[in-house]
Amino acid sequence: MLELRKIIKENDPIVRKKSVDVTFPLSEEDEATIKYLSDYLEFAADEENCKKYGLRAGVGLAAPQVGVNKRMAAIRIDMYDKNDNLITKRYAFINPKIISHSTNKTALHGGEGCLSVDNDREGYVYRYSFVTVQAYDYLTKQNVKIKFRGYEAIVVQHELDHLEGILYFDHIKKKKPFEELEGATLL
Ligand code: CO
Repeated sequence: MLELRKIIKENDPIVRKKSVDVTFPLSEEDEATIKYLSDYLEFAADEENCKKYGLRAGVGLAAPQVGVNKRMAAIRIDMYDKNDNLITKRYAFINPKIISHSTNKTALHGGEGCLSVDNDREGYVYRYSFVTVQAYDYLTKQNVKIKFRGYEAIVVQHELDHLEGILYFDHIKKKKPFEELEGATLL
């Protein structure tokens, strides 16, 4: 059983604050936080746990969402490869940084969601179609440089936004939430 921490919601200033870099070697506290972010996604990926503890499953969770304004975020995405085999991609990033990105943009046609946002906001959130991220990955215990595309790239950018105090609906156009963007693709 995971010792659950409270998820900070959108109106709390904590999720609006810019996070600071994590220093190495990792303190016990920082290590417990990155581990928790990753463990939460794993725990909530189990429907039984969600029902039992009233949790929501998520593909990403950033440190400010559990009350820690430090640059850490975990990602857990179920994907299917070309042979239709389920692959679960997992990352636990510390000090992640986008070092390059496409000019092309993309958005989810169904919009985004967030564990800190209880009532979904409708509209397109345009993000880069490709991003290359540099980070320390706690799961593999190494510095990584990874190119993400499509859905994964969207999730990564959503999580990195949390470290800037940005929530997904900040990107939705108030007057035209479903405005099409020239050259952008919808997923
Ligand atoms: Co979020």
